[in-house]
Amino acid sequence: MQASEHDQIARWERRWLAASAAMSLVFVLLIAYNLAVEGTHIAQRTVKASPEEILAQPVFAEPGVRQLSPGAVQVTTVAQAFAFVPSDVRVPVGADVTFIVTARDVIHGYQIERTNVNVEVIPGEVSTFGYVFDEPGVYRITCNEYCGIGHHDMLGTVTVVPASQWGRDVGPEASAGESARAYATHCASCHQGDGAGIRGAFPPVAGHAADLTIDLGREYLPLVLLYGLQGAIEIDGATYDGVMPAWSHLADESLALLANYVTFDLAGDRDVADVAPYVAADFAALRGLDLNGSDVYGRRNP
Ligand code: CUA
Repeated sequence: MQASEHDQIARWERRWLAASAAMSLVFVLLIAYNLAVEGTHIAQRTVKASPEEILAQPVFAEPGVRQLSPGAVQVTTVAQAFAFVPSDVRVPVGADVTFIVTARDVIHGYQIERTNVNVEVIPGEVSTFGYVFDEPGVYRITCNEYCGIGHHDMLGTVTVVPASQWGRDVGPEASAGESARAYATHCASCHQGDGAGIRGAFPPVAGHAADLTIDLGREYLPLVLLYGLQGAIEIDGATYDGVMPAWSHLADESLALLANYVTFDLAGDRDVADVAPYVAADFAALRGLDLNGSDVYGRRNP
């Protein structure tokens, strides 16, 4: 190799080194700019414990929206495959919103579109962050960490309303559409809004829940909701081998609403005239049984 060629290669090497150093500098400056000017900040981890311990804390007993003071609300959310619980929250415009989010099972994301909220949610940790929504509207929440087959359905919304409209319509028993909303919040991401499920992936509940109650008795559905279900099932010629998570963290009243919604509102052509509606006591009576999803599966196929 000629000395001149050698010099030329060395010159290009220096240029590339300088370019990569400049690029690193630009990235550092961009991060500094975002931290200083754009309000970007790193979510604070307030707690580190097992997911069970964290979920047992009072703040996560009934996740949802709470008013802390005039102008300040708190939103607690549990992220789990494949839903945010609750998935739809309403907050007043201009309020200081403190989000407290944890994960039940695997790592999820919590990103609110059109804001700088984009937080990783990790089982065993609590992510706490604040935001002020200046514009009313519906902001979509997406999970941006791949968490399993239903990841793409893991969606939620923050609805920002004028302060005068907020306050009505909060709380578990606030309106007549409550059971439909509970279903939409907790079940629809997998079983779909109409309860038809997705063939081969998520079993239908429309009609099927009524069949189960009629065929297996009124304990079966509460057991599935309290302890989950694990094992392959077959409905209308399709096999489903997913895992139904346990929903025992919901109050008995909420579970009764859900059970009634899938059994009666989604009964389709099933004759449910003789079936008595579920009440909270149906669930209270079945708590504390030390069962898991496989045990409940055993009840289905004795
Ligand atoms: Cu949760 Cu992706």
